[in-house]
Amino acid sequence: MHPSFAEDDDVVVNPSVQPKLDELVAGRVLSRRGLLAGGMGWAAGVMLGGCTVPTRPAAIGQAPAGPLRLGFAPVAKHTLDQVSVPDGYRLAVLHALGDPLQPGYEAWRGDGTELPASYDQRVGDGHDGMHFFGLGHDGGWDSRRSDRGLLAVNHEYVPSPFVLHPGGITPGAQRVGTEAHKEMLAHGVSVTEVARSADGRTTMVKGSPYNRRVTALTPMELAGPAKGHRLMCTRHSPQGTHTRGTQNNCAHGHTPWGTYLTCEENWTNTVSRAAGDDVRRTAAEVAALNRYGLPEGRNSPYRWHTAGTDDLHARWSSSVTAGSADADYRHVANTFGWVVEIDPFQPASTPVKRTALGRFSHEGAWPAPVVAGQPVVFYMGDDARNEYIYKFVSAAAWDPVDARGGLAAGSKYLDHGTLYVARFDADGTGEWLALSHGLAGLDAGNATYGFADQGDVLIHARLAADARGATPMDRPEWGAVNPLNGEVYMTLTNNRNRVGAAEKPVGAQLHTDAANPRSYADTSARPDGTLRVNRGNVNGHIIRWREAGGQAAAIRFQWDVFLFGAQADAPADVNLSGLTDANDFSSPDGMCFDSRGLLWIQTDDAAYTDVSNCMLLAAVPGVVGDGRQAPAAGGTSTLAGAPVTPATLRRFLVGPKGCEITGVTLTPDHRNMFVNIQHPGEGMPADFKAHRFGSHWPASQQEPASLARPRSATVVVTREDGGEIGT
Ligand code: FEO
Ligand code: CA
Ligand code: CA
Ligand code: CA
Repeated sequence: MHPSFAEDDDVVVNPSVQPKLDELVAGRVLSRRGLLAGGMGWAAGVMLGGCTVPTRPAAIGQAPAGPLRLGFAPVAKHTLDQVSVPDGYRLAVLHALGDPLQPGYEAWRGDGTELPASYDQRVGDGHDGMHFFGLGHDGGWDSRRSDRGLLAVNHEYVPSPFVLHPGGITPGAQRVGTEAHKEMLAHGVSVTEVARSADGRTTMVKGSPYNRRVTALTPMELAGPAKGHRLMCTRHSPQGTHTRGTQNNCAHGHTPWGTYLTCEENWTNTVSRAAGDDVRRTAAEVAALNRYGLPEGRNSPYRWHTAGTDDLHARWSSSVTAGSADADYRHVANTFGWVVEIDPFQPASTPVKRTALGRFSHEGAWPAPVVAGQPVVFYMGDDARNEYIYKFVSAAAWDPVDARGGLAAGSKYLDHGTLYVARFDADGTGEWLALSHGLAGLDAGNATYGFADQGDVLIHARLAADARGATPMDRPEWGAVNPLNGEVYMTLTNNRNRVGAAEKPVGAQLHTDAANPRSYADTSARPDGTLRVNRGNVNGHIIRWREAGGQAAAIRFQWDVFLFGAQADAPADVNLSGLTDANDFSSPDGMCFDSRGLLWIQTDDAAYTDVSNCMLLAAVPGVVGDGRQAPAAGGTSTLAGAPVTPATLRRFLVGPKGCEITGVTLTPDHRNMFVNIQHPGEGMPADFKAHRFGSHWPASQQEPASLARPRSATVVVTREDGGEIGT
C-alpha cells in the first residue's frame, strides 16, 4: 500500500461535534421562534419548513444579453487514459510538471533525473486552484484583456507515484535529502505569462520576467492580528513576523485589487511532531495541536524533517527541542494553514500570510462582487470531515480607487475585519457567528482552550468556531459567487462519517442534518460485477445561500441544496436532483462561476470511478428556494433545489485515469478555458523499472501506448471555431 499523500483529509480531528448536535437542535427551535416573532423581515416570502420561491435580488452584475443556454453535446463517461471534450472543441497542454519556466533549463527528462535545485524554475506538481489575470499594456492588471495574461497555478502536493524521482521514493527511515529538497520546490505556486497567437492558441511565454515559482522555501511575511504573536515565534523569526514557505496549496482566490490568494489546506502532510512532545506542552497547547490534526508522534507522510538536522529540515518538526520558543520550531505549525496573498504582477514581491482570515485547512477564499462603500467579503471552507464554512468581512469599505492596488490594498482590506463561521438551521435560514475575542466563549475562561487575544482566536479558529456552535459540514471544498445575483455556492464533496437519523453514531460519526442530509449505503454492482461498499454521504452535494437583503456582509442568510451528486440509477432519495446519463457525477470539488453566470463544477471522486474518471460539468443554476422540501436517504428532510435536466446541467469534460479535475478559469472573453488535470494515475500500481504506471497521461493523449510517466498539467480548451466556451 503506497503512503497516502493525497490531499483528501482522512483525519477527523473535530472532537467537539457530537455534543453540538443537541445545542444545534435547541438553536433551531430558538431560530424558529425568532422567525415567528417576525425577526426575519428581510426574507419576505419565506415559509417555515416549506418550499418557497424567494424574490430574486436585484442583479449585481451585468445580465447576459439573452437566456443562458448550454451549447455543446454532453461528453460521455469513460475510463480511458484520455481527456475528452465535446465535439467542436480542442485542447492542448499549457504546462506540465517539470516544464522549465526559463530558457537555459533543459526540458523535463521524464526519468526523474533533473537536478532538485532546478525546480526553483520548473512547473511544480499537483496542479490545483488557478486564476487568469489579464496583463495590461502598462504591465499591470487589465481585467478585460484575454490575449495576454498571467496564470497563477497552485501546486498542491507530490502525488504518488513520485515521478519526480528516478525510482520513486527511496525507502528508509530517513528521507534522502535531494529528494526532500525537490519535493519542497515542487510545492507552492507558479506564475507564468501566457499569450494567445493569431490562430487562437494560448501558450506559456518561456523566459517572461513575470514567470515565478513560490515554494515551500520562499520567504513570507505574516500580517494581521496574529503577526508578532507569541504563538508565531520561531527560531527563524523570534519576533513572529516572518516564516518560510507555502505548501499544500489547494484552492485559491483572487482579489478585487488584482492579487492572487493561495490557500494552505493539508499542511499536516508536511509538518510532524515528535513522540513524547506532550509533556513539554501546556494542556491548552496539546488540545490545540490535537484539534488541528497534529497529535504527538505524528509523522507527516513526506517526513522532510528526517532528511537532515540542519535548519532546512529541522523546521518541519513542530516539537519542543530547546529551552525557549525562539530557539526551536515548536510553533512552526502555527505558521501554516493560512490564506497567502501573492502579487503576480510584482515577481520580486514577498508573499503575505493574511492571518485575519483565520487558520484551518483552507480550501480557498472567494470574493463576493465588490460594491463601493461596502465591506469586501470572502467566503472560505475548511476541508476536513465535520469542519466549517467561514466568511471574512473587511473593516474598510471598498473604494474603487484601489482596483489595482496590489499588496498595499491587501493590507488595507485583509488585515482588519471580522471572521465569521456559519450555522445552518433546519428551517432554511442560517446565521454568521463572529469569531471575535471576548464574545460568547472566546475568552481566557473557555474550558477547552482559553483564548488570550484575537491573534489566539485566529490561530485557533477551529476551536473558536466549536465554541460558537457552527454547523459541521460534509467537507467544504470550493466556493463560488454568482456574479448575477450574489448567491454563494459551496461544494461539500462527501463524508463517510454521516449516519442516518435511525443509526447510532460511532466514534467521529455525525447524524445527518438538513444541510448535510444524506446518508446511505451504496452496495450497487460495479461494471465488473463486484459490489461497491461506500457509506455516508457517498456522492456529495452543493449548498448555496443568499445573504439577507442581498448584502454580502449580512449576519443572516437563506439556504438550500442546489445539487446532489449521485449515480443516475440511484434511488430517488439519493438522486434528489434527478441526474441522468448526461450529467450524473460524484464528489463535487472545484467550482467557478464565469462572468456570464455559467457555473463550472469539477469532481474529485473515488466512489463512481469504476464507471467514469473525474469530470467537469457546466450548469445554468437557478436561485435559492427554487425547489422543494424533500426527504433524503437516511431519514432527514432537506431543502432541495429544483431538479436539473440535461438542458441545465451537462458533462463538458472527462479526464484520464486516476486523476482529479480541479482548477478552472476562463479568459474574460470566454474563448480560452484553463483546466487542471491533477495526479493522473494516483494511487495506482507503479513499476518504475518497467515504465508502467496507472496512467501515462498527458503523453497518452496523443499516443495511447506511451510508457511516459504521468504528470499533473494545465490544459487549455478552445472551440474550433474560436467561439465562446460552453454556450
Ligand atoms: Fe485539496 Fe480539499 O482538496
Ligand atoms: Ca479540492
Ligand atoms: Ca477533494
Ligand atoms: Ca484528489
